[in-house]
Amino acid sequence: MSTKETLTIVDNRTGKSYEVPVADGAIRAMDLRQIKTGPDDFGLLAYDPAFTNTASTRSAITYIDGDKGILWYRGYPIEQLAEHATFLEVAYLILRGELPTQKELDEFTWQVTHHTWVHENVKKFMDGFHHDAHPMGMFISTVAALSTFYPDAKVNHDSGHRDLQILRLIAKVPTIAAFAYRHILGQAYAYPDNDLSYAGNFLNMLFKTTELKYKADPAIERALDVLFILHADHEQNCSTNAMRSVGSSGVDPYSALAGAAAALYGPLHGGANEAVLRMLRSVGSPARVPEFIRQVKAGEAKLMGFGHRVYKNYDPRAKIIKRMADEVFAVTRPSPLLPIARELEHIALQDEYFVTRKLYPNVDFYSGLIYEALGFPVEMFPVLFAIPRTAGWLAQWQEMVGDPEQKIARPRQIYTGPACRDFKPMGRR
Ligand code: CMC
Repeated sequence: MSTKETLTIVDNRTGKSYEVPVADGAIRAMDLRQIKTGPDDFGLLAYDPAFTNTASTRSAITYIDGDKGILWYRGYPIEQLAEHATFLEVAYLILRGELPTQKELDEFTWQVTHHTWVHENVKKFMDGFHHDAHPMGMFISTVAALSTFYPDAKVNHDSGHRDLQILRLIAKVPTIAAFAYRHILGQAYAYPDNDLSYAGNFLNMLFKTTELKYKADPAIERALDVLFILHADHEQNCSTNAMRSVGSSGVDPYSALAGAAAALYGPLHGGANEAVLRMLRSVGSPARVPEFIRQVKAGEAKLMGFGHRVYKNYDPRAKIIKRMADEVFAVTRPSPLLPIARELEHIALQDEYFVTRKLYPNVDFYSGLIYEALGFPVEMFPVLFAIPRTAGWLAQWQEMVGDPEQKIARPRQIYTGPACRDFKPMGRR
């Protein structure tokens, strides 16, 4: 039988048949538009709320195979990057497509390091937030405010200008995040230290007090760097879609990134690790795990940190984080929640309910425990996610801006409101 890379569609409303090309396992939604019942018909639409079966772009950045539990950045498995690379090396890879040579990495690191400071007015701006403002709200607003400090960012049609904004953003997000953290504690801001690594400097800005030179514990610095690697990109998720969608209007990347960070603020996206901590606290002890599992199976509770829209296998990031948790707890106080998490995982992975539904631990199952052990309040969790994801958002934005097939994102709708009717004067309503 001869095979053709096409799809034949028979419209049973008209009896007409159409042949549309199939490329990379997809048809073009615009090829459906020719399918009409008559000259006044707009043409067939694809209805896909939440984009569950729609590819919005071609992308060469991140690959996920959810059934096999695979995650690659630019073709490199996440496990290898987490073991051998630094976050800035991975950011370079994601943004530029190839691993840097030593010289390229040195230059990139120098550039990022020398853009970490923010204008003093940014600091004053942050001072204006309430003492109990949520750090993620401060982060989003301050990133948006950066666009007013860099009006040149509006010129984003040449790659030189884009590269400068990308460096600025990657460099400044840890500074803004750390300032937001110090603000909620009522502590003076600690300025960036150019002698330190990306993660080391972030820890310095968070935790420096009276010491002349802050030096993070190497195990903690590395753990944070690995967590940054694991969160750097995750293809077309909610916030990345926001970055592309907002950016498609041609707005500057600071404004687009504020939109992406706002999407990440939501509990369904950046807030799940906080929910895991709350769940572990409410379970209370390993002995109460079987009863909690019974409640989950009865539909009375949800096992937070389990299940994923894409991964129907162990989330590869969760495996790495689980291993790292031991290294972190060796240098911090061991978390009383860890034995509960281990017991929950142990029981759930053997239980028919979870096995048949392909519910495995996701990245959030252990990350909250690590963040808590490092001394972060839960409000900081989405901010910690936003720092490394900035590299992914910018890589996706850059790819979108350079893609000749992309234009302003503008979905269609199926109108369900009333048909045209005449205005009723106030006295007749
Ligand atoms: N605990 C108990 N049952 C669950 C869970 C869970 N965590 N997740 C899914 N199920 C059940 C669900 O009730 C359904 O059962 P049934 O077939 O009997 O109705 C079945 O598994 C399929 O679930 P679904 O809701 O159709 O799956 P989904 O792909 O729409 O949802 C999810 C994915 C992540 C929203 C969901 O698994 C969940 O709510 N998990 C807990 C929250 C969480 O950990 N979120 C973080 C995700 S990773 C973040 C990231 O990558 O950015």
